[in-house]
Amino acid sequence: MPIISLIAAMSKNRAIGLHNALPWKPIPADWDNLKKVTNGKKMIMGRKSYDNPHRIWSDAGNYIITRQPDYEAEEGFEVVSSLEEALEKCADQKEVFVLGGEEIFRLAIPMADKIYLTLVHAFFEGDTFFPTFDENDFDTIERKEFKIGENTPYDISILTYQRKGFDK
Ligand SMILES: NC(=O)c1ccc[n+]([C@@H]2O[C@H](COP(=O)([O-])OP(=O)(O)OC[C@H]3O[C@@H](n4cnc5c(N)ncnc54)[C@H](OP(=O)(O)O)[C@@H]3O)[C@@H](O)[C@H]2O)c1
Repeated sequence: MPIISLIAAMSKNRAIGLHNALPWKPIPADWDNLKKVTNGKKMIMGRKSYDNPHRIWSDAGNYIITRQPDYEAEEGFEVVSSLEEALEKCADQKEVFVLGGEEIFRLAIPMADKIYLTLVHAFFEGDTFFPTFDENDFDTIERKEFKIGENTPYDISILTYQRKGFDK
């Protein structure tokens, strides 16, 4: 089984999305971090996140989770019916990234080995949120701070959580 990593950005009120888009202006520092940590890794996403015009994908391969049996995806994306099915298809990978959104994070948090979480230090209206999770189950192994103007329009912190007892 690969290392199961989640990657997300959330506001102070845990918003991650609004009208199937990000609630905030582009944050280049966060984007740079995402590209760096996910480079060469397969990605797993919910169908709604895939439907986002600003969707993210990986050149290494991408899985879309949907309950629609006849859902057709573009080249480079494979349709699966569950998170478990996506993970089985990634069994030979070292690390795989779960990209969200809320519904898929809810399924994946109990299985997560790592959570790469960007905290956007501002409040935003949202219709999707990063689920609360027990931070006592994880160690914070990295924390990077970026102030407004440092390649970001907001103060942000980029945290890496690793599940206690992680041994993959
Ligand atoms: N800030 C961030 O880091 C971040 C990251 C990713 C996404 N987002 C935002 O999050 C929002 C989307 O999140 P969301 O929660 O609405 O949608 P989502 O998690 O992206 O996708 C939900 C869809 O996944 C499928 N699904 C969910 N549970 C399933 C299960 N148990 N088995 C099979 N299929 C299942 C269903 O697809 P079908 O309806 O096709 O059956 C469901 O409609 C957008 O606004 C996006 O911009 C933010």
